[in-house]
Amino acid sequence: MDYPFYVTWSKQKDLELIDIKSVSGAIITTKDGKDIFDMSSISYQAHFGHNHPIIIKNIIEQLNTVPMSSPKANFPNKIETTLKLLNYMKKEDGKIFYTTSGAESVENALKIARDITKKKIILARQNSYHGATLGALTVTGDWRNPAHQTPQDWVLRIPEPDFPKALELTREIILKNNPDKIAAIIIETITGGNGVYFGSDDWWKGIRSICNEFNILLILDEVVCGFERTGKPFGYMHHSLDPDIVCLAKGISGGMIPFGAVWTSKKISEYYSKNILCCGLTNYAHPLGIAALKGVLEIVNNLDFKENLNQLELIFREELSKFKSHRSVLEVRSIGLLAAIDLDKTIDAKYFIKNGIYLISQNNRIILAPPLILNVEQLKLAMNKIFKTIEDNS
Ligand SMILES: Cc1ncc(COP(=O)(O)O)c(C=O)c1O
Repeated sequence: MDYPFYVTWSKQKDLELIDIKSVSGAIITTKDGKDIFDMSSISYQAHFGHNHPIIIKNIIEQLNTVPMSSPKANFPNKIETTLKLLNYMKKEDGKIFYTTSGAESVENALKIARDITKKKIILARQNSYHGATLGALTVTGDWRNPAHQTPQDWVLRIPEPDFPKALELTREIILKNNPDKIAAIIIETITGGNGVYFGSDDWWKGIRSICNEFNILLILDEVVCGFERTGKPFGYMHHSLDPDIVCLAKGISGGMIPFGAVWTSKKISEYYSKNILCCGLTNYAHPLGIAALKGVLEIVNNLDFKENLNQLELIFREELSKFKSHRSVLEVRSIGLLAAIDLDKTIDAKYFIKNGIYLISQNNRIILAPPLILNVEQLKLAMNKIFKTIEDNS
């Protein structure tokens, strides 16, 4: 069908979109009455299902008090929720800059890094995704970058953590290109949509020490792995990392309001007490985004939620181990409720939908990021359906 609007990252001709009639928890019901189970939190943002009552309640309350954005004003919830976010991040010494998406978080992080250091070049991984705006796309290392002729002199690619001598090579790249020109390194703490890859403690230690040695800021992109996705509130908590800047979005509002945030260190916030922060948005710290975040923080701090999530992580690991021995499965990588299953061929997402499962399938890989609010039976049932679809298409 030809739609009067564009569909993202697609050739536009003859597309067939899912026609959503209603949503409930992790279940999408289509116009023709079919129930589809969401096993990728749509695009990794529906952490709390599609209509979590606590987030809805908070948004409605805000709609009835101060619903309009006003970047330079304070309003009920703005200070309290920001303090709660800093506390949840265990980063009370820094400050938050709010945005409306992951790409905008990355965009502002890059601007701040370049402003603070007065340097221009950003280091980024070979295999990475950071968003679709020009700056974020420039640091992105995947098929989506080249078509847009992004400014290649802004970015240098560093090797993936498992590449032989990755740290030594990274250091060589910096020295060769003049450390006085390199502002920051941006890394997805745990690579999300491009395959669920993570660096070892040693690699991270090496990256931090390279940053310190050459006065390069460490920007962590936690857009996918933040807000409990990987078994901890944030990816950096797996390695006790000490970033200068952290980018957030997606789970920050459970996808119900376009929202994002950038955390910056105390040193950076002190710089801006005497220098102009040259960043801004009409919808900065939008009250509805703040309200959704307030709801999210209520959910993630709830003991029943945490207990259920621990159970889900355990079952997810168990279920994934069954896939490892399947003849069509090359490799499984997982952490928390995020997993990549590499297959010996591509299985189009439509075959999973036929079996009642929505997930992200790209090339010969499927990515699973189920909503964090499922119950154990739902998770087992969904994993069985995924297994069966792989079996049917082997
Ligand atoms: C790691 C990462 N960073 C940034 C982004 C960009 O987020 P948004 O699409 O909200 O702009 C994404 C989106 O998928 C992402 O996966």
